Amino acid sequence: AKNVGILAVEIYFPPTCVQQEALEAHDGVSKGKYTIGLGQDCLAFCTDVEDVISMSLTAVTSLLEKYGIDPKQIGRLEVGSETVIDKSKSIKTFLMQIFEKAGNTDIEGVDSTNACYGGTAALFNCVNWVESNSWDGRYGLVVCTDSAVYAEGPARPTGGAAAVALLIGPDAPIAFESKFRGSHMAHAYDFYKPNLASEYPVVDGKLSQTCYLLALDSCYKQFCKKYEKLEGKQFSVSDADYFVFHSPYNKLVQKSFARLIFNDALRNASSIDEAAKEKLGAFSTLSGDESYSNRDLEKLSQQIAKPLYDAKVQPTTLLPKQVGNMYTASLYAAFASVIHNKHSTLAGNRVVMFSYGSGLTATMFSLRFSEGQHPFSLDNIATVLDVDKKLKSRHEFTPEKFVETMKLMEHRYGANDFVTSKDISLLSPGTYYLTEVDTKYRRFYDKK
Ligand code: ACO
Repeated sequence: AKNVGILAVEIYFPPTCVQQEALEAHDGVSKGKYTIGLGQDCLAFCTDVEDVISMSLTAVTSLLEKYGIDPKQIGRLEVGSETVIDKSKSIKTFLMQIFEKAGNTDIEGVDSTNACYGGTAALFNCVNWVESNSWDGRYGLVVCTDSAVYAEGPARPTGGAAAVALLIGPDAPIAFESKFRGSHMAHAYDFYKPNLASEYPVVDGKLSQTCYLLALDSCYKQFCKKYEKLEGKQFSVSDADYFVFHSPYNKLVQKSFARLIFNDALRNASSIDEAAKEKLGAFSTLSGDESYSNRDLEKLSQQIAKPLYDAKVQPTTLLPKQVGNMYTASLYAAFASVIHNKHSTLAGNRVVMFSYGSGLTATMFSLRFSEGQHPFSLDNIATVLDVDKKLKSRHEFTPEKFVETMKLMEHRYGANDFVTSKDISLLSPGTYYLTEVDTKYRRFYDKK
């Protein structure tokens, strides 16, 4: 199979959200801390009728319908998620309800889990399958689904929720440049979920930021090395049109791109002019640890990176800023944002993706766009995504109501023997929702 990659994309996020500005006032933090300090606009969350299973049922059904895909044409289904609903039964098996109904039970794949990286692992599995000898000619389907919720405190405003579905196959308008990949995997306790009775992670916020940037540096070095070996020339940020980052919150994305600029300056790459190289060169003697915490370097590199950030990164930031951290779905929601914003000019462009999952696992990889053919064209993907409409039809909750919902969800996590409010007034037609969890912890869903 040639040009294996992403043929189609669909995203679903809950219609319930809270404005970051309202949260700032409610939490009593200084004005601008969440909106400028973290760079976030709004946060989406699940109420008691939605969860990672209902969101993924909605995203998958919608993708199959809108692109006219017969469920029998799916040969592999992989889910990435770090939201644990069951320690044994995969989310994939819940999604099988869609395919069983259509008479297709011959579908490989289960769930992949490692913090926000599971979706990327699922994606690689599907792409590798289509590129392999075991491929049977059918499509792969990847689902990234997460509800990111934090205990009260500084991490809470970095929550979010969404499910992204990606159809995988040959002759894709978004093709993998599979040879260009750099990974960084290590052991760290930056963010983890050891308390199985709680949905909330244990998080060392500062450490997680450093781990993220360290993994970024390392992946970029590996990526550049492989590119240079295969292409016989140096890679720099000039060689990609867009950079898409896993987005826990936008400020970290700004810092990440500035970090690539710093890397390019130290590598004497052509993307950086001489004056900027000289200024950034002054920081070349810092040790790794020092360079991650040096304020002057951070400020200077962000300043130098600004025009390139506006061109190559800003178009990827819409959904992560509006929806929040979607864990496994964050990177692919950022990716969907660039399709939404730039679909008519993307053909021929290269996009570099950076996936990070705490604990930690990270990979930088590369994709190449072409126009594609209907229904798998960039224009049609943008039409199906319908980002503006999905954002506009949301319903804003007050911070008080958001906190109340979080409390209810804390009680419901891991619980049995309850029926939900079944209040589906805010859901759009076609959305799946949770109706009941019975005494044997079996979950039941319905479709609006
Ligand atoms: N106006 C403008 N900026 C402000 C204001 C204000 N009024 N107040 C604070 N800020 C800035 C700060 O200067 C800081 O900016 P900087 O990062 O450039 O230094 C930023 O806002 C955040 O303020 P802090 O005091 O550093 O924030 P805090 O420690 O309270 O929490 C954190 C931030 C650590 C990101 C927290 O939200 C968290 O733990 N989040 C979850 C972990 C996470 O997302 N990690 C990322 C990678 S791992 C993953 O994907 C889960």
